Amino acid sequence: MRLLLSLVLFIFLSYDSLAAPTALRPQRRTRSFRVERAKRSEYIPNGPNALAKAYRKFGLAPTTFIDVDLNDFEAYKVAKSAVSTSTDSSDDDQTGEVAAKSVNSDVEFISTVTIGGQDIPMDFDTGSADMWVLNSNMDSSYTTGHTVYNPSSSTTYKAVTDSSFEISYGDNSWAKGTVCRDTVSIGGASITNQAIGLPSTVSTSFVSDTNSNGLLGLGFSSMNTFKPGPQKTFFDNIASDLEEPVFTSLLRSDGVGEYEFGKIDSSKHTGSLVNVSVDSSNGYWQFDSAFFAVGDGSLQTLTGSVKTAIADTGTSLMLVPTQMLEAYYGSRWWLRLPCKEDLPNLTVALGDKYQATIPGSLINFEEIGTNTTTGEKVCYGGVQSSSGSSMMIFGDVFLKALFVVFDQRGPSLAFASPA
Ligand SMILES: *[C@@H]1O[C@H](CO)[C@@H](O)[C@H](O)[C@H]1NC(C)=O
Ligand SMILES: *[C@@H]1O[C@H](CO)[C@@H](O)[C@H](O)[C@H]1NC(C)=O
Ligand SMILES: *[C@@H]1O[C@H](CO)[C@@H](O)[C@H](O)[C@H]1NC(C)=O
Repeated sequence: MRLLLSLVLFIFLSYDSLAAPTALRPQRRTRSFRVERAKRSEYIPNGPNALAKAYRKFGLAPTTFIDVDLNDFEAYKVAKSAVSTSTDSSDDDQTGEVAAKSVNSDVEFISTVTIGGQDIPMDFDTGSADMWVLNSNMDSSYTTGHTVYNPSSSTTYKAVTDSSFEISYGDNSWAKGTVCRDTVSIGGASITNQAIGLPSTVSTSFVSDTNSNGLLGLGFSSMNTFKPGPQKTFFDNIASDLEEPVFTSLLRSDGVGEYEFGKIDSSKHTGSLVNVSVDSSNGYWQFDSAFFAVGDGSLQTLTGSVKTAIADTGTSLMLVPTQMLEAYYGSRWWLRLPCKEDLPNLTVALGDKYQATIPGSLINFEEIGTNTTTGEKVCYGGVQSSSGSSMMIFGDVFLKALFVVFDQRGPSLAFASPA
């Protein structure tokens, strides 16, 4: 029944209001366009922090784990590099002591977005629908070390009155401020009057992350947080002008990848694409995934209530229920395992007919320290607990194994092995 398929993006003068999403003006069809997804320079990966970030984003309470013996664990110490000038000292991105060299060397990715003619490296995030950018109106304590958008030097900037945005991820990480419109270009294709959040303040995690200067949400516009009403994402604004209403993501495990908008480039994948229907009612690229297998083992059914997953380019890890963690890592503590260990492949269902296998080598996430009893290097796994979430979150660990088509038709997701 289930096939075993190996499947190894106005103005100048007056003020606009945000009452309704803006309609696109008729324009020529846009050819497809591409944007590189680059590894962040000098980024030090930190698995536990990546997990904490995901928990905040989805408002999850971290699971309390009790069976770990920390007496014989010594974490690598890394100098805190960052600019921690904001007063939000509760943010735990700042407190990470553990970090290390990456086993896979590619943890977060940034791409260049042009706003009002200014090139700004940003994160593309299919798990949210707000576009916001650090900007020159903010106090410099928030923006030191960042590339910021300067509204006053953009000739296409338009203020929007009576508007605001406030996005909060869980309870610690947030950005809030006003909304403007400006021309946004990616890979040469432009949307005028794109709604953009201009935070006046952001939480420390966004301050310390000097590689990224904002987020470009590529989830469904229904979850946009702008007030007084949701605004369309860049993709929703441009989709009807594209040859095909799609964007594709290709993350190569050497750290370089790309997003392409408007066409499915068959030279980027091998074998055929499998098409899985998407439930967009929560605003996410959400699909059924009720089965999994470990290594060569047979398919197991998820017995809990969680039987769906979202494809989230804004999360580094892959977050799954305990049942899957125990089947995968065994009863052993999955936060820390000897690095030399070969991890098995992990297969997850894509809808009810297909499955994708994530190579174990992509799951061994990073070295985080030393086991002082054995002297062994200790590693952090890229598959972690979804901690009571009603859906699984399949981030870069999953996406790196695949060529993925985010398709408005359906909507749907299509998957294939990268070429
Ligand atoms: C260190 O190794 C010992 C012996 O294998 C093991 O019992 C212990 O749990 C390990 N500690 C950590 C933090 O991995
Ligand atoms: C993982 O899957 C790949 C491709 O299917 C296979 O070549 C490899 O042997 C598998 N690794 C393990 C540890 O099973
Ligand atoms: C996936 O299926 C939908 C209909 O369910 C279709 O409109 C879309 O074109 C398909 N996508 C691909 C890449 O084949």
